Amino acid sequence: MVTVDELERLREEALRELEGLDTEEALQAWYAGYLGRRSRLMEAFAALGTLPRELRPAIGRKANEVKEALEAAYAARREALRQAALRRELEAPPLDVTLPGRPVRAGRLHPATRTLREIVAIFAEMGFQVFTSRDVETDEYNFQLLNIPPHHPARDMWSTFYTDREGVILRTHTSPGQIHAMRAFCPEPIRVILPGMCYRYEQITARSEIMFHQVEGLAVGPGVTMSDLKGTLTDFARRMFGPERKVRFRASYFPFTEPSVEVDIDCILCEGRGCRVCKHTGWLEIAGAGMVHPVVLQNGGYDPRRFTGFAFGMGPQRITMLKHRIDDIRYFWANDLRFLEQFD
Ligand code: FA5
Repeated sequence: MVTVDELERLREEALRELEGLDTEEALQAWYAGYLGRRSRLMEAFAALGTLPRELRPAIGRKANEVKEALEAAYAARREALRQAALRRELEAPPLDVTLPGRPVRAGRLHPATRTLREIVAIFAEMGFQVFTSRDVETDEYNFQLLNIPPHHPARDMWSTFYTDREGVILRTHTSPGQIHAMRAFCPEPIRVILPGMCYRYEQITARSEIMFHQVEGLAVGPGVTMSDLKGTLTDFARRMFGPERKVRFRASYFPFTEPSVEVDIDCILCEGRGCRVCKHTGWLEIAGAGMVHPVVLQNGGYDPRRFTGFAFGMGPQRITMLKHRIDDIRYFWANDLRFLEQFD
């Protein structure tokens, strides 16, 4: 049976113990021990009904008094601990906000993207706008409208990937974009470049990928001449590779241009003396080009008696390889950071 004295001793013991506590966990354990449901005090409350009637008021009053005292002491101790923690925090050396922050690692552009942007910027200064054209093409646009009928021997150079849909293929060059651009702009004059990915079913080697960028160029208008073509590409070569570059136009053949040329620059590594990169010729090929074939102009909607045009197509990956002496085109899509991180 509990007594008033016992309750008093309980209070003294609890308060003494409380005084030594200095962590939140210890405080919680103390609370559970002295004021929790299974504590001696709570048991005393539960047992009140079993006491002789005359003792109940005194013991009940005492139990309440002890409970209030312990709760008040608990609250006070908790507040004291909180204040002490706050004081410690305030007295600690302040956070040094003048320390330089850790820089976020910035990403970088892929070397192919950098070259594409450089090319686009140069042609933009010459008044060419970018015209985007689809990667998935039809045989008609990729070949036939470019004056390459079925079974034409030129198709051997441009084998591609075929889809389940008859006549739907991945484009082998950006040239089908010429037809799309002409049909979009006709009868207005045109000055566009068409950067984009091309696909070819061929052996992957140090010089050839099955997936690579091209940048096509197209100018159409009344009186566009071969001199315009030569001037534009010479200016491009000097802006891209240095003002001292020599440019050479070599007769060539494409079914969609007439006449056709290959555009070479003197080797940027050996200055034309001959080295491994230029295969000891002193020259590097940078583009195929020519005057737009009358049949192609007509397929685009223009009257070839009133309009003429020039077109060119270059491979930015090959250009990047020349500029940075990269000896294998496969590095571009191999995702090797050791390669990619060299281009800042
Ligand atoms: C053409 O694709 C023509 N459409 C270019 C053209 C456009 C001529 C307009 C006249 C008028 P060619 O197949 O040579 O031409 O490719 C052009 C460029 O694409 C090449 O000089 C080369 O830089 C790049 N290229 C071609 N095949 C690959 C390949 N497998 N991997 C990487 N680059 C390639």
